[in-house]
This record gives sequence, structure tokens and C-alpha cells, in this order.
Amino acid sequence: MLPDICKDIEPNFLLCDSALEHIVTHFRRELEAGLARRGEDVAMIPSFVPGVPDGTEEGTFLALDLGGTNLRVCEVRLLGNHKFEMKQQKYKVSDDLKEGEATVLFDYIADSVDAFLTEIGSDIAPEKSGPMHLGFTFSFPVEQTAINSGTLLTWTKGFNAKNAIGKDVVKLLNDAFERKHIHVRCSALVNDTVGTLLSRSYQHGPALIGAIFGTGTNGAYIDKTSTVAKLGEKQIRELEEGGEHAGAYMVINTEWGAFDNKRQCLPVSIFDSKLDRMSINPRKQAFEKMVSGMYLGEITRNILLHLIDSNVLFEGYSTAVLNEHYGFDTSFVSAVEGAESDEDVIKAITDILKVKRKHIKERDLELVRWATKLVAHRAAYLAATAVAAVVQHTEKNRREEEKETIDVGVDGSVAQYLPRFEENMRVALRKLLGEDGEKRITIGLAKDGSGVGAALTALQAKKAAERSSKLSK
Ligand code: BGC
Repeated sequence: MLPDICKDIEPNFLLCDSALEHIVTHFRRELEAGLARRGEDVAMIPSFVPGVPDGTEEGTFLALDLGGTNLRVCEVRLLGNHKFEMKQQKYKVSDDLKEGEATVLFDYIADSVDAFLTEIGSDIAPEKSGPMHLGFTFSFPVEQTAINSGTLLTWTKGFNAKNAIGKDVVKLLNDAFERKHIHVRCSALVNDTVGTLLSRSYQHGPALIGAIFGTGTNGAYIDKTSTVAKLGEKQIRELEEGGEHAGAYMVINTEWGAFDNKRQCLPVSIFDSKLDRMSINPRKQAFEKMVSGMYLGEITRNILLHLIDSNVLFEGYSTAVLNEHYGFDTSFVSAVEGAESDEDVIKAITDILKVKRKHIKERDLELVRWATKLVAHRAAYLAATAVAAVVQHTEKNRREEEKETIDVGVDGSVAQYLPRFEENMRVALRKLLGEDGEKRITIGLAKDGSGVGAALTALQAKKAAERSSKLSK
């Protein structure tokens, strides 16, 4: 039997059908507002990527991926048969770099590319004239103005480097390459969700949505260019009529992590408020803070501490790990959610939380399981509201290939390692879209979406540059 205190906590975590529907209605409104106007919470950023690849694309490109747990430098070889090969190296980004001067961060990124080229080497034949082209997956909200430029709107996920907001991140990177005399130039900028959508389509066939459920969360999808009203009639017409990076459809980076920053409908508990208040970006990324891997461990920690302080868990004993801000991460939630026996739960509690065995009673196991389940289920249900909102939003405008089935490519640590995440998402999708609606949705992992997506975007940028140089000859 769970103690009474649990009943007070549950309402903000167990989402009933009407709460889910209410969130989706609100979600759709914010998606539409973002398409209509600049400066909305859900930014709905045009990517200037006009469609998804068909799997026949070929070429070898350098790619850079910043925004998850590590900085990755890769060389991606697109084989043109839905397959690719990849060489990669990860580089750690310290908290000092994340929160220091932007130029120092970008110098470090340039140095990492240099280290990759020296230590791992590249098979790309040197261009006769000019530097090597690189695709940059930069997984933060960037207001893109073209496929190779965009200004940073805000940092997320623990990054807070100074003097970067409002600047063109491609320029910041290219300036760093120049400062260091590295013969590489960034020619394409892409969000990881856009990369995931492109990579899933390249590998598996046309997808509608690319979603990240990892350190952060976000989704990209394909919409009619004409629905992006904030671009203005003139630009919409130009894009629709052709030219570079143009067409009737465009990939939109929703930035859904900022959904309901005004907290009008999300189920905000005292544990979420505490997390938000103590974060480096209070009142921002409200949705992300309930769904993504950076935060699920921390919400769980806040709940467990409340139970300890109320003297109903571990005989009222806490530990240094439990007391520390971000003392443990989402891998604890995954370990308990994936536990097959009481012994497994005890192991997670003693190994990760460092609680002494003698303080763990049978009911504590039940309580810890209850807490992780609340947090993990709510994350999956909320993830489903985002997908359902996009599916409903695109109902009228969907291309022929998405009429029967709707494919969603996903990537990220939560999607990959949190047990039953997709299963739980599907429970909520059934409630929201009905049995048939849920069955039409296929969800698949688009591994390495960031690297492959950056390579595919660099290829598009290269083709467009070749086209326009031919035209100007
Ligand atoms: C960023 C997005 C990114 C997502 C997943 C969010 O914090 O704002 O741009 O796509 O994390 O990495």
C-alpha cells in the first residue's frame, strides 16, 4: 500500500483522456501561432530544406554535431542505396565551455574538426579550389534565413555561452576555422530533428516527422510552404516558384520543447516548478523539462527527496547523491523501469543513489517504482501529444505518400534507452487518434540522424551552389 502522500502527487502525472486532448488542442494552437508570427514560444522555424531524400543520394561529407551530450565530428559516406558508412569521433564539451565565451566554444569546435582530420583522416578528395565543405547539425533554436545561415534565438540544455544569442552561428564557426587556418567551411546548417527526418527518409522511405527524445526534445515535419504565413506572400511565392532551396513543401523545425512556456495547460507539479526555478533557463523549455533526458532524473530526484523529507522513504535517510542538484540522471529511471526483479531495483538504489541496504525496506521498492513510473509515463504521454498535434495539423496538407501510413523517425537517449517509451507513447496515441489513427503511425529509430542529416543537407547546399554557378556562367 502506498502512503497517502502519493495521492497528492499523482494528479500532475497521471494524465486522463480529457487532459491529453486539452493539451493537443493547445499544442495545435501554438503550432499555428508560430507559423503565423515571429517571436512565438513554439518558433516553427523554416529550414529552407524543400523535401526529403529518396535514398539514392551519394557523396562523402564532413559533419559536425553539437547539442547532445557530446560534440561529434564525422565523415559520412552516402552510398546511394539507402545505406551509409561513417567514421566519427566524440569530443567532450565541458561546463566551462558551455557557459563561457562563445568564441572559445567555437574555437574548441574548430580544433576538434582539426584533430579529427589529423587523427582519423578524411577520404574526401581535396577540392581543387577552396576548402572542404561541412554540414553543421546545431541542435538549438536558430532562426534560419537560408540553408547556410541563421541566428541563435536562445540556448537550451545546459548551454549558456556568452555573446552568441542573435549571432549567425555559421559565421561564428567559419570565423573560428579562419582564425585557426583550418581549410574547412560550413556550407549547411541543420537542426538535429531536421537531420533525423532526412536520415530516416534516406534509410527507410519518406517520413513526415523527425523527432528527438534525447537530452532535449523537439520535432521537425513537412508542411506546405504556403502555410508559413510569417514569411510573407512575396517570399512564399518566390519559394513556391522555384529557385534555390525552394518548393511547394518545406521542412519546419517546430522547437516544440518551448510548448506552453506560459504554463496554461501542462501538468506542472511542485517538482517541476522547483526544477525550473533552479535551472539556468527558468520559464523556458517548459515541455522539454517534462519530457527529455536532461530532466527526468532530476524530477525523480525531487520526488524522492520529498518522500524522504516526509519520512516515508529510506527511513528518512538521504544521501549525497540524492541531495545534489542533478545528482543522478535518467539512467536511474531507465534502470528501475527496466528492472525485472526486486533485486534489480535494490541494485539501482544502492549503486546509483548510494542508499545503504539497511535503509531499504520492501515498501521503498514499491515507492521508487511508483515514482519512476509516474515520471516516465508522463514523458511518453506528453511526447505523444506533440506527435498527435503535428499529425492532426498536417491532416489537410499531407503529401500523397503520407496518406496511408505516417512515418516518424526518432532518435535520442530517451527514445533508445527508456524502457517501453514507444509502447507508452502508443497508449496515449490510441487515446488521441483512435485505434486506426495510431495503427497508421510507424515509428522507427533513425540512428545517427544528426550526422547523416548534416551530410544530406551539405549535399543539397553543394548541388544548389553548383546550379547557381552554372546559371551565372
Ligand atoms: C533544442 C532543439 C533541439 C532539441 C533536441 C532542444 O533543446 O532547442 O533545437 O532539436 O533540443 O536536441
